[in-house]
Amino acid sequence: MASQSTASQKKRVGFYPGSFDPLTNGHVDIIRRALVLVDELVIAIGVHATKQPFLSPEDRLALIEAETAPLAKKIGAKIRTATFSGLLVDAAEKAGAGIIIRGLRGAVDFEYETQMVGMNRTMKPAIETVFLTASPETQFISSTLVRQIAGMGGDISRFVPARVEKKILVRLPRKRSR
Ligand code: PNS
Repeated sequence: MASQSTASQKKRVGFYPGSFDPLTNGHVDIIRRALVLVDELVIAIGVHATKQPFLSPEDRLALIEAETAPLAKKIGAKIRTATFSGLLVDAAEKAGAGIIIRGLRGAVDFEYETQMVGMNRTMKPAIETVFLTASPETQFISSTLVRQIAGMGGDISRFVPARVEKKILVRLPRKRSR
């Protein structure tokens, strides 16, 4: 049974990609649950030149690190943060991850995500994708809607962590005056 013990001793590295613009309570829920499944979780921000972000990659990295460090400590897993600009599977492979984690909120996510898995698995068969379904309390939250609500002066405190809300409120006036 030597091969089995080798497999069980292998470090499980998960790769959780997203725009995280901004990090929401939905993302935090997925991160908390993913940390139980892996030894190390790489939270990676996809940065694409064609997309004008709301928060800078640096701000998003800092918020993710501040928000998730206590979770990792509590659960006893390791977290790494990164940015990537090319293919998701290449970034996951470069990070040494064998599992891609994606959150699913509903049928629309499922359609898109299963298509992405098919393409990704064809490109890198060794990398498995695991879907975590959103918890009922966060199922409706999306970064796009959070940005929209914040931009229209609405209360986003129930959708994002407090330090994310603070950062968004600091960023908003500058965004509006452009
Ligand atoms: O959760 P999000 O914000 O929709 O995530 C966006 C993310 C990070 C998945 C996207 O920006 C990205 O990088 N997509 C992967 C690009 C890719 O590898 N395409 C080919 C595979 S289908």
